[in-house]
This record gives sequence, structure tokens and C-alpha cells, in this order.
Amino acid sequence: VGPGDPELITLKALRLLKAAPVIAYPAPERGQSFARSIVAPHLPGGQEEIVIRMPLEAGAFPQDEIYDWAADVILEQVRGDRDVAVLCEGDPFFYGSFMYLYARLVLRCPVRVVPGVSSLMACAGVSGVPLAARNDTLTVIPATLPEPEIRRRLAATDAAAFIKVGRHLGRLRRLLDELGLLDRARYAERATLTTQRVMPLGDFTDEIGPYFSMVLVHARGEAWR
Ligand SMILES: C[S@@+](CC[C@H](N)C(=O)[O-])C[C@H]1O[C@@H](n2cnc3c(N)ncnc32)[C@H](O)[C@@H]1O
Repeated sequence: VGPGDPELITLKALRLLKAAPVIAYPAPERGQSFARSIVAPHLPGGQEEIVIRMPLEAGAFPQDEIYDWAADVILEQVRGDRDVAVLCEGDPFFYGSFMYLYARLVLRCPVRVVPGVSSLMACAGVSGVPLAARNDTLTVIPATLPEPEIRRRLAATDAAAFIKVGRHLGRLRRLLDELGLLDRARYAERATLTTQRVMPLGDFTDEIGPYFSMVLVHARGEAWR
């Protein structure tokens, strides 16, 4: 369903979403589903909804029993000849939670994966930071990795996108500063939503960012240089 702006959904996803008699989506244990809120303006009404509630906070591991349950419920609908549109924020195969359902369903019923606009593209766009050019390598680095591992990955790449920044923000900023990369790093939070914030990482002094935040850095400062 894209990174947040309801207009950043593909025509294909929109068509399938509107046509499906059933939709399924992840949601926190309490509160609203982010994926569903993105497409809420598009929903035709009258669809059956399968809410897959689970702990979604950073670091929570996929919950096997919940995914087993959700796959069974979805399969039951499919066997009753009802298509189910499963919503996933961004792109489903770019760190998307949908892949845990995919693993459980793909051998049991037809599954079609619709690529989406991922947060990587969204954050680059709103930050005005082209990700990579010519023979550049771009590395996606979960900020949750231990520091030596982050240093190793950074040393071997031209450009990096840090995802899952959240509570690792302060640590990451200090590391980039030490490596002389802070003035080349941009911070983007809730990209493409009306609440988005984008700024040079050096200007954002908080120790903790929200879960939906990313840091982009290019060793040359700008990919085209
Ligand atoms: C589990 S991954 C899901 C990625 C998603 N499937 C995609 O294609 O963008 C979650 C991470 O993606 C990044 N993210 C997702 N949406 C974002 C947004 N709107 N703004 C900034 N970062 C976002 C954050 O780094 C977050 O921790």
C-alpha cells in the first residue's frame, strides 16, 4: 500500500484492493492498523476484514502462532472462492511482514505479490537525496545491528539507508559523526504522511526517533558528484 500517502499506491494494488471481498492486515495489539489507515480513503465499504493483531514494535519477532492462525483464516476464505487482499506497508518483499504469511500460503493457494512504493524510495524522494548513481553500491542497514557490523558495512559501501532507526538514533548519529559522515546524512520520519519530518541528521538531536524513520547517507555527499 506504499509508505503512507494514499496516492502512493499502484493502480494494480488499488484495483485488486477494491475488488476483493475480503481484506487482511496487521495491526498492533491495541489501536489502528497503519496499513489499513493508508488505504482507508480507497476502501469501497462492505468488505470483510481480517485483523491480524500482534506486537509490532521494533525488535518484536514474527509471532508464529498468529501468522499460522492468519494463514488458516485466509485460506478458509480462498477455499470458499473469496479473494483476500493482504495489506502491507511499503513493498511486501522489502522487509515486509507479509512475507511471513506468504511463506505459509504460497504452497497452499495461488498468491500474487504486487510490488509497492517502498519507504526507501519515499525517503529518498522527500529528502531530495538521490540514492545511488553509476557504479555506486547502496547498502540497506538495519540500525539494530551491532556497531562493529554497521562500521564494516559502511566501510564497504558508497551509500547507505538505515532502517529501523527508532531507539538507535543517538548511537547512529554519534557513529556517523565519528566517521565524518554526519554532514552527509539526512533524517526522514513518517515520509509522505502529512506528519512527515525531514532534516539533516545533525539538526535532529533526539536520542530516539519513531519506528517509521530512516537515515540516508552517501559517502560523496551527493550521488551525482
Ligand atoms: C519492517 S520495515 C518495512 C518496510 C516496508 N515494507 C517498505 O517497503 O518500506 C520498517 C522500516 O521501514 C522504514 N519505514 C517504513 N515506512 C516509512 C516511512 N513512511 N518513513 C520513514 N521510514 C519508513 C523504517 O525505517 C521502519 O523501521
